Amino acid sequence: DKGGWSSFMAKEINEQPESVENTVRGRISGGGVVIPELAELGDERLRSIDRIIIIACGTASYAGQVAAYAIEQWARIPVEVQLSHEFRYRDPVLSDRTMVISVSQSGETMDTLMAVKYAIERGVTTVSVCNTQSATIPRESDAAVYTHAGPEVAVASTKAFTAQITALYLVGLHLGRVRGTISAEESAQAVAQFEELPAKLREAVDTHEQVAQLAHWMADTRSVLFLGRHVGFPIALEGALKLKEIAYIHAEGFAAGELKHGPIALIDHGQPVFVLVPSPRTAPLMHSKVVSNIQEIRARGARVIAIVEKGDTAVLPYADDVIRLPLADALFEPLLQVIPLQWFALELSTVKGLDVDQPRNLAKSVTVE
Ligand code: M6R
Repeated sequence: DKGGWSSFMAKEINEQPESVENTVRGRISGGGVVIPELAELGDERLRSIDRIIIIACGTASYAGQVAAYAIEQWARIPVEVQLSHEFRYRDPVLSDRTMVISVSQSGETMDTLMAVKYAIERGVTTVSVCNTQSATIPRESDAAVYTHAGPEVAVASTKAFTAQITALYLVGLHLGRVRGTISAEESAQAVAQFEELPAKLREAVDTHEQVAQLAHWMADTRSVLFLGRHVGFPIALEGALKLKEIAYIHAEGFAAGELKHGPIALIDHGQPVFVLVPSPRTAPLMHSKVVSNIQEIRARGARVIAIVEKGDTAVLPYADDVIRLPLADALFEPLLQVIPLQWFALELSTVKGLDVDQPRNLAKSVTVE
């Protein structure tokens, strides 16, 4: 049941304020994060972990890339993200102090399942971040941290993505608490961000109309680029994947700093570029770098669509369109920034007359390797 929406994807984008709230529910206690499923592994085991490898495919891997920054910051454990289908073939360096965290909406993705089985054989601790209750991957893993986003029907993943980032952040905060690497203030600050998130996500969802107009004007666009820095980089990749998947147009995401190492040659007159602008309050250095990236591409004719936090006026002289989002700490911005990009893909797919929920050549769950 689409609940009055034109597609499951639209319904699922709209559900994100509630689905993220559901991911957090029951996992905050005494101003800190406690995930009962992780607690069952025993604090001693969690304290012994010296390396985390996140394995996933597609959108789930981008959730992993976002969360890697947060987990490293809070738990002070090196985190790397590997695509499930690459993991086994590199003879990964694993030990009993390694934790492999798989991320999968369906919990049935064959590439990820095979990678988890490989990790289990090698004796590492396996944690599954999954949206589907009792799916194969969480059943095989040592601990299952469910995202509780509710069923996701559209092939293009939206609410599962924000729920995955949220669940992985909670894992990072739990590990940080157990290992003593996060201060009580920092932990309370993150908890406060989670509490404020549903209202902010609602505001981000409300960018729909503005983004729909943009997609309408851009109906004939044949290529779109996305730029981000730090946690904005995987969001750029995710924005591009959404467009490829359901609007069938060429789209690429770049780390903003990488521009001058090649991709800036792609920019010519009228090339649309979405730029995820970090907060000038909480990330001033990154903000100024991204603003200069915007100046560089604008000078070469790009059509700049800047996604900024409310009150950021630095980009106004150089942006053709500005999408404003509520204020959030730097690590929480991706959860808001991805929403206008989800709407953009949906609206571009719609103006092109395509099937938003069932794109060609794709299945919701990829159960073959
Ligand atoms: O079910 P999973 O999370 O394991 O699926 C992983 C990818 O196949 C999935 O995220 C895919 O990239 C989506 N269709 C993206 O929207």
